[in-house]
Amino acid sequence: MAGPGGMTGDMEGRQAAPDENIDSILTEDRRFQPPASFSSGARVRSLAEYQALRDAADRDPVAFWAGLARAELHWHKPFTTAFDDSRAPYYTWFGGGLLNVSYNCLDRHLAGNAEKTAILFEGEPGDVRHISYAELHRQVCRFANALKARGIGLGDRVVIYMPMVPEAVVAMLACARIGAIHSVVFGGFSSGSLRNRIEDASARAVVTADGGHRGGKVIELKAACDSALSEGCKSVETVFVLRRTGSPISMQPGRDLWWDEAEANLADQCEPVWVDSEHPLFLLYTSGSTGKPKGIQHSSAGYLAVVAATMKWVFDIRDSDIFWCTADIGWVTGHSYIAYGPLASGATVLIYEGAPTVPDAGRFWSNCARHRVTIFYTAPTAIRSLMKFGESFAARHDLSSLRLLGTVGEPINPEAWMWFHRVIGHERCPIVDTWWQTETGAIMIAPVPGAITTKPGSCTLPLPGIDADIVDAEGNSITDPGHGGELVIRRPWPSMLRAVWGNDKRYRDTYWGKFGGHCYIAGDTAHRDRDGYFWILGRSDDVLKVSGHRLGTMEIESALAAHPRVAEAAVVGKPDETKGETIFAFVVPRGARPTPEAAGELSSELRAWVAQQIGPIAKPEQIRYADSLPKTRSGKIMRRLLRDIARGVPITQDTSTLENEEIVKQLQGES
Ligand code: WTA
Repeated sequence: MAGPGGMTGDMEGRQAAPDENIDSILTEDRRFQPPASFSSGARVRSLAEYQALRDAADRDPVAFWAGLARAELHWHKPFTTAFDDSRAPYYTWFGGGLLNVSYNCLDRHLAGNAEKTAILFEGEPGDVRHISYAELHRQVCRFANALKARGIGLGDRVVIYMPMVPEAVVAMLACARIGAIHSVVFGGFSSGSLRNRIEDASARAVVTADGGHRGGKVIELKAACDSALSEGCKSVETVFVLRRTGSPISMQPGRDLWWDEAEANLADQCEPVWVDSEHPLFLLYTSGSTGKPKGIQHSSAGYLAVVAATMKWVFDIRDSDIFWCTADIGWVTGHSYIAYGPLASGATVLIYEGAPTVPDAGRFWSNCARHRVTIFYTAPTAIRSLMKFGESFAARHDLSSLRLLGTVGEPINPEAWMWFHRVIGHERCPIVDTWWQTETGAIMIAPVPGAITTKPGSCTLPLPGIDADIVDAEGNSITDPGHGGELVIRRPWPSMLRAVWGNDKRYRDTYWGKFGGHCYIAGDTAHRDRDGYFWILGRSDDVLKVSGHRLGTMEIESALAAHPRVAEAAVVGKPDETKGETIFAFVVPRGARPTPEAAGELSSELRAWVAQQIGPIAKPEQIRYADSLPKTRSGKIMRRLLRDIARGVPITQDTSTLENEEIVKQLQGES
């Protein structure tokens, strides 16, 4: 069978989706109807109701989104222009409106739900806190006042580099309260990655902690922050430091302030700053196929409106729910489904600080049981790694409170889906496989659980208002089952990214324009089955998903090439049963190729180097050395060839144009 969309001919530099993927998808015939008990109490109870919503949205998308934005949000001043595409691809939504995101997440719940738990926190060591909406409101106001006291205001950038503790959310909401723009950096990134992000955003302040608990160890965030700030980062005037672990750290007088001291004596009331609908709520750096990570810029109103709507459509959120999303706050999933979505909905959200295997592989299930979690949202990679420990860990805990399960971040293989369904959901809970991206802000394609029959491995159908399609190289829709192509969204939607911070060209080139019109290019390949269900095959660019973490091959290659012993490097993804993909690096050393004994030592050094440059998640799993890299005549690295070599499969590509065919043997590790 041809590759997706017959794209095999020009797949150089692209992630070819293996044919087995489509084959296994075409033979997957299991179907799971929404349980009647779930549908009867759901907001959207049947396929017909879902279809009616979709039809209404398709008939008049702008009116549909305008109605939704009015219903979901508290407006200080109503908007006048629902949608404006006159400066496409810089689309704007809800122009003329004023609102405040923290007000929408906090103040509007105080009248009826002040004492309801907003955040239920469990630290890795086992410490538990319940924070009510009233208390969260006070904490956010106090910290907002602390930011203001250091001169932070409307439009200033604040980098948040925190463990998974409630104060990470407090810091985000405090920024939103005063119109500052936050940029959360994943705590697993190294000082080098932190520095790049601080500099790109010209942040005036950094919010961090003395450390965090993860995997039984203390993650030394303040130390990484000091190292990031030791060079460049001239824009940073203040570093707020939360006490979490009590680890010894150094504080730089004048610049560094303890969180508690910074807010001592400050009021726990702070007037929200009413901002325009389009005011940037946050930047979130993510990897693409070229260059450094890009700062994806989101709006205030459009973002929050769709995130809140998906809490209803996809999670069918109820007042009584305990919602747990296991993502890190440093990724978009944490932004939309730990912080903004649940809090805009007035829900109770569980935040867990640590690793899934501390003290044992039952920690997720024990957390679900003890906190009576009702909705559990996680990544396929977490499911696959916990599956390996067997069923007994889940069996030891009472999972009867669960009513809905969800996955995100990468394709879920049917085997993991079935395990999740049977062992965790006890064949009772619908599973929502949710496709979306940092750029989309909110879930785009997912089953509405009371309405849509699910199939293991498919994210099913687009949400109302989302005009998702799969196209060939010319931009024509592909409807043939078994033929894949590029996943696109054919018309703008309110929670879409607004810009790449400081890089207009990259915004236009990456996402728009290839197919004309208002067509957004997702960077994924997908395929549709006979029922019109979407099956995501993987990325169509050089972005890797390693344990659900999004990484660019270019970033890892430049980190490797920055090492004194490396002349050149190429990185590809290798399929992995648990992690989805692992990183396989081909390295051309400076000077002679290392002997097999010396290679081991150099590889350890390079792995440590990459961990220090980017973060441990970017460490290559395997490194192979060669005298040169295979390139086309025009000098492009032949990635498909390298992918075949990494996979250990026969080489299908014509290698006759290679300058040195012998190189292939070296790359295969044979000489
Ligand atoms: C992948 C995460 C298959 C996809 C929210 C996308 C998925 C990238 C799914 C975005 C899914 C996300 N099925 N693949 N349900 N969800 N992806 O920006 O390749 O970290 O382009 O956002 O993850 O990753 P990001």
